[in-house]
Amino acid sequence: MNKSLGTISRVSFRDEHPDLGDGRAEILAGLALPQKRVNPKWFYDQRGSELFDQITRLPEYYPTRTETAIINENRAAIAANCGDDSVFIEPGSGSSEKVRILLDAVRPAVYVPVDISADFLQQSARTLGDEYPWLDIFAVCADFNAGWDFLDELPSSRRVVFYPGSTIGNLDPAMAQTFLRTIATLVGKDGGVLIGVDTHKSTSRLEAAYNDKDGVTARFNLNVLRRMNTLLDADFDETVFSHRAFYNEDLRRIEMHLVSDVAQQVDCAGTTLDFKAGETIHTECSYKYSLEDFAALAASAGLEIVESWLDDEALFSVHYLRCAA
Ligand code: SAH
Ligand code: AVI
Repeated sequence: MNKSLGTISRVSFRDEHPDLGDGRAEILAGLALPQKRVNPKWFYDQRGSELFDQITRLPEYYPTRTETAIINENRAAIAANCGDDSVFIEPGSGSSEKVRILLDAVRPAVYVPVDISADFLQQSARTLGDEYPWLDIFAVCADFNAGWDFLDELPSSRRVVFYPGSTIGNLDPAMAQTFLRTIATLVGKDGGVLIGVDTHKSTSRLEAAYNDKDGVTARFNLNVLRRMNTLLDADFDETVFSHRAFYNEDLRRIEMHLVSDVAQQVDCAGTTLDFKAGETIHTECSYKYSLEDFAALAASAGLEIVESWLDDEALFSVHYLRCAA
């Protein structure tokens, strides 16, 4: 592995270039729908990842600190399920903050952070490698809904997928099922999945978490317009769109939208997009699961819950899953 990134750590970086390929066509297709929409994966360039990191520290955004406390308090039981010497894979690793709680206990053969945000991933892997000189890190910039062939290059040890943060909630239920099925195949009979899932709860608590008073979530949402300007050579003007987030209780999901404040036309990849005043681009869903709903989703993907951990208020849940017998 490449030893040049850290001092004595072994950190390598692979770029699968998830921003190339069908990205432009996919975004344009979403913007052509009657309800315009964009895949939330496009939030995450360097600025988007930094804004998300700020979100995780907001007083209103309970998921990060609650999940961190759950993992901390149950570290021994969680590590016992995960076992040691595994290929420990984190799809959507972000700053790789939470894995630090587990590394000394699970002592993986290799840690594989996978994220779409290339520079942020590289910096995070480098910092982690400096802090954990014994750890092999194989960082991969990729779309976790695309292929996993790069895993073939890694040791054939047991695989454990660590998927915290309720990132599963940003996939609609059909995609979440497909994703979990893929993960179940990757880990096989011997492996496991440690997953963090945000729970269904009061609308007021949820809506506060996505409408923080400092406006960080609004800036995070609006950042996707800058992203589209770069990716599509578009001329979205952030100052005439507003952030909106609300809990759709029937579908048990937070919906984030960008509302066009005025009637306007936007040049985008050589075409013109029309917006009526008040029309929205749907930018993100964040599904919330009761324990029963999540167990049913896991079962539909061929996975069963071995053990679950929650905080006292049941604000957040962490589960260890394995392939169903
Ligand atoms: N696991 C971290 C970060 C969660 S934020 C935590 O629990 O705090 C979600 C992360 O997933 C971001 O870092 C984002 O860049 C990444 N991400 C979102 N969609 C992705 C996709 N389709 N493929 C790969 N990474 C993705
Ligand atoms: C990464 N993901 C789980 C976050 C969430 O809560 O759905 C993204 C986010 N969107 C707004 N705030 C945070």
